[in-house]
Amino acid sequence: MAIIEPVNQEIGAINTGKKYPATLRFWHWVNFMVLFGSLFTVLINATLFDHAQRTVVKAALVNAGASVSDKQAGVVIHGLEDQVWGIHIYFGYVLAALFLFRLIAEFFLPATRRISPKIKKAYLAYFILKKEREAAKHELVVKGLYLIFYLLLLVMVVTGLLLAFEDYTGLSRNINHSIKEFHGFCMYLILGFIVLHLAGIFLAERKDGKGIVSDMINGG
Ligand code: HEM
Ligand code: HEM
Repeated sequence: MAIIEPVNQEIGAINTGKKYPATLRFWHWVNFMVLFGSLFTVLINATLFDHAQRTVVKAALVNAGASVSDKQAGVVIHGLEDQVWGIHIYFGYVLAALFLFRLIAEFFLPATRRISPKIKKAYLAYFILKKEREAAKHELVVKGLYLIFYLLLLVMVVTGLLLAFEDYTGLSRNINHSIKEFHGFCMYLILGFIVLHLAGIFLAERKDGKGIVSDMINGG
């Protein structure tokens, strides 16, 4: 890291005085909350409003004296599920706006705070200059993972918006179904990133990156 960090910090100090600029911190924590909100809606629909719950709904209604078929109970579950998808879509619009915010910020952040020059610098140090390769490899893996996450987020936003506006896109039912499956599959990759990210932050806090979480809060 020595070859990369001091240079970053020196130029960063002139440009921002902060290791993590306010725009990046704002994006990071709001994105974190909204992403969790979005994942929570998926969890609710996969558990509480799953089709298998129709027996519970049916039993409750029958207990209350109503005469209800499986199909009717299923319709109730479906209605509730749709309401939660409505909330998921609102979270989705916020995520899409945040993605745009992060993309625009990339052009306005000081060069040393942008993700692409960081990756380029680590690539150069590791493959071309072959100096301090351990630190450069670490930087390449960490920042490469962030880049993959940003690409995944882009995929989620694009596929999500296509689904939200499926009545207007003119795409066939089959294609919309595939888009939904792909959107759902990419969620697991996002979850994978979150696990790796949290493990990485935890390890960094214990080793040579002490204080990075508070840096991500107060700027560093
Ligand atoms: C939904 C969960 C999360 C997502 C999607 C996420 C995503 C990201 C991304 C994309 C970056 C890179 C920012 C950039 O330089 O462009 C980042 C950095 C960071 N995140 Fe998270 N994050 C999440 C949760 C957390 C949590 C819970 C913590 C603290 C416990 C945390 C601490 C940090 C820190 C300290 C950095 C800076 C690390 C570095 O300099 O490489 N993140 N996060
Ligand atoms: C990274 C964040 C996101 C996650 C983890 C996520 C996850 C999911 C999952 C698992 C499904 C169910 C897929 C299936 O039934 O096979 C879904 C459906 C959907 N998502 Fe997302 N999504 C995210 C972002 C978005 C965004 C940005 C939008 C854009 C508005 C969006 C819009 C939708 C829509 C419209 C559906 C279909 C709902 C329905 O069946 O009526 N999602 N999402």
